Amino acid sequence: MSTPQYQSGFGNHFASEAIADTLPIGRNSPQRVAHGLYAEQLSGTAFTAPRAENRRSWLYRIRPGAVHGSFSALPEAAFHNRFDELPATPNQLRWSPRPAAPGPRDFIEGMWTIAGNEAVGIHLYQANRSMQGRYFYNADAEMLVVPQSGRLRFASEFGVIEAEPQEIVVLPRGMRFRVELLDDVASGYVCENFGALLRIPDLGPIGSNGLANPRDFQTPVATFEDIEGSFELVNKFQGRLWSAPIGHSPLDVVAWHGNYVPYKYDLRRFNTIGSISFDHPDPSIFLVLTAPSDTAGVGTLDLAIFPPRWLVAQDTFRPPWFHRNIASEFMGLVHGSYDAKADGFAPGGASLHNCMSAHGPDAVTFERASNADLSRPDVIVDTMAFMFETRAVLRPTLQAMQAPELQPDYQQCWAGLKRNFRVAPAG
Ligand SMILES: [Fe+2]
Repeated sequence: MSTPQYQSGFGNHFASEAIADTLPIGRNSPQRVAHGLYAEQLSGTAFTAPRAENRRSWLYRIRPGAVHGSFSALPEAAFHNRFDELPATPNQLRWSPRPAAPGPRDFIEGMWTIAGNEAVGIHLYQANRSMQGRYFYNADAEMLVVPQSGRLRFASEFGVIEAEPQEIVVLPRGMRFRVELLDDVASGYVCENFGALLRIPDLGPIGSNGLANPRDFQTPVATFEDIEGSFELVNKFQGRLWSAPIGHSPLDVVAWHGNYVPYKYDLRRFNTIGSISFDHPDPSIFLVLTAPSDTAGVGTLDLAIFPPRWLVAQDTFRPPWFHRNIASEFMGLVHGSYDAKADGFAPGGASLHNCMSAHGPDAVTFERASNADLSRPDVIVDTMAFMFETRAVLRPTLQAMQAPELQPDYQQCWAGLKRNFRVAPAG
């Protein structure tokens, strides 16, 4: 298994050939493609989307994507988009990490839906085997994968991406791929994005550098499989899984060009920006990727991270403050511990604070921060928390609300915040 090769950039019009002189020059779909290949376009936006937002790629492949058998619906799975099973709850929720589930399961078999809405579907995955003779594509959403343990290898129509915890992978809607495990087990988080495609945010007064820099995004180079056999093509369509027989690997793209591509990003390359005077900025300063809505400045999905950083602000409360937001916030922890919670939020766990549900540091963290020595900086190391933030309320699934990992006492973390109010007597 060779080491994957990548090309750098975000939103670039890439071009890649596994065999030289395959890409046609000056036309996308010539009468005859080199080497007897077929030309096929994969569109991720409307044909008429403005040029700056238009994403599509041309694939030059051994067989067209249409060559497969009929799809049949698979039995209902733990991976779904049924976000109307229960009334949404305003309660603050937190889940401990899920224990390993019994039995063999690949990346798709191991998906477990925790919450979602019309903009996003949020899932946890647990896998203990590679996808064997199975390929997958998601017709419903672009997929943002956040590994928490175990390394993954995504063999795709565009090439191979390997990712480890503290990296993220974005898989375009419709792209066919297979997931292999590079360790015995793998687990993590997945966010399906039903909205506009994820992009790096504008930087405004920050300037031309900072946060996630474009050159740190990595897209694979073309590699292809030329194999025949009795395989399965699994498709997620309208919230449920379908399966069709396919007699060859659909990862048979010899060359491609375009800007609708998979990519990975190492969260440790994020250029964290913060206050050097007093207070700290809103967590939007930690925005990695955003899916914009049709309302300026409002995302249907924002990915923010809380990476290692220095806290130097003076005469101030340094941890994340108490807040109530119009957005709904799903958080996970990839590595280490999170600075707003003393305990209870473990790597692999999750929390959900819906629209206007109050939250913030727990009592232990509040006491410690209120009495901290601010004459010296805090260096936060060994941490990588993330947040999927959306403008619509997140609705937990039935299985998430019935899971034994749901912590019944989460709200108790604020119960120790005692009344400190005191007014000195007049005169
Ligand atoms: Fe929050």
